[in-house]
Amino acid sequence: MVSAGSAPQWAHLIRPEHVHGSVYTDPGIFEAELEKIWQRVWVYVGHTSEVPNPNDFIMKFIGPEPILMTRDRDGRIHLLHNRCPHRGNRVCATEKGNARSFTCNYHGWTFLNNGQLRGYPFPSGYQIDNREHLGLGRVPRVAIYKGFVFGSLCAEGPSLEEFLGGAKDAIDALVRNSPEEEIEITTGYLKHKVKANWKFVLENETDGYHPSFVHASIFEVAQSGIGALYSSDSTAVARYFGNGHSEVDLRPEFRRIGKPLGWFGTSPERLPDYVSRMEAAYGAGRAREIMIDGTPHIMIFPNLFIAEIQMFVLQPIAVDETIQHVTALQFKGAPDLNRRMRQQTMGSVGPAGFLLADDAAMYERSHRGVKDKSPEWVFLGRGKHRERHDENGFLIGDATDEVPSRGMWGYYRSLMEAN
Ligand code: FES
Ligand SMILES: [Fe+2]
Repeated sequence: MVSAGSAPQWAHLIRPEHVHGSVYTDPGIFEAELEKIWQRVWVYVGHTSEVPNPNDFIMKFIGPEPILMTRDRDGRIHLLHNRCPHRGNRVCATEKGNARSFTCNYHGWTFLNNGQLRGYPFPSGYQIDNREHLGLGRVPRVAIYKGFVFGSLCAEGPSLEEFLGGAKDAIDALVRNSPEEEIEITTGYLKHKVKANWKFVLENETDGYHPSFVHASIFEVAQSGIGALYSSDSTAVARYFGNGHSEVDLRPEFRRIGKPLGWFGTSPERLPDYVSRMEAAYGAGRAREIMIDGTPHIMIFPNLFIAEIQMFVLQPIAVDETIQHVTALQFKGAPDLNRRMRQQTMGSVGPAGFLLADDAAMYERSHRGVKDKSPEWVFLGRGKHRERHDENGFLIGDATDEVPSRGMWGYYRSLMEAN
């Protein structure tokens, strides 16, 4: 076992095509990840559409830590620690709502929704000139890209746009599927808790090897063409963007087939209102291209997975416990498409949905396997011999190749080795 203080020998634990099982199961490594990853890099927190009005707030998290996302009366977004600076009590216990201020239950200190201390009961008990440091703790860096709000608990580091790099294009491609170029997160969350390390979950999101087997039953029941996208004949590619981000880019297949809305398993005749709004917004030719390409399948390190019709936010709770918060994507100005996105989300990841339950069984079993040291190492060599670079210089492989996992582990190692 490796403890957080004893500097694990990463070169011995993470090799180009192998990762030692203890990296998924060692509680000391989990503690070290909180410091070196979750408290350092940009982490996705929430979307601006979740706090649409002045004084709206919603409870979020960075890693295991609760964070309040608020919009103040002037419309500015804040990320605040949900922790009273008096004696550490939780300040807000409500999931979401609208409030100008929050009052701590313990001794009644009150804070404005921008984090400032407003006051405390029986004020003659204090002689404090400067209350500045007695506000709610702030996430030191907050940045927003196309409505996606990210926070970094580290005061210094690359800008959000530098961190996202090529992943920005996938977010751009996502929002283009709205005639108003905006997504909205308005349907609430399903929370799925799994007994597995967060990295098994993360790797699975852009693992294009498993769908043909793990999801064969849902593809069959739904008479879906998705299975073929992840076969060895598929022209789709797995891509590593750097900084831990990766995608399975299905556009080559969708373009080869050339059917608008084929990505969604439907046709323009069945969503006439959406199609006419897209044509009005982009012109018929461009709208057709966008509707052929569809939405991305991208994992933004370390916790945001955009999966065509839904979005997953990963939350590590313990070395062997992870929550996936899942919501349906909704496109502004696309009511008929949105209704079907909600229905499909319920079918795939709802309480009786097939898709996520099947995945969950896989990462829980993998976790148990490496915990038993059988196998001691996981092998991530698939497609190494056919890795190549795309026109933008990103590493790609066939859809079923383990390019995303290998890339992620290289970045992980660089973070864990950094001082
Ligand atoms: S702990 Fe919040 S007011 Fe005392
Ligand atoms: Fe899956």
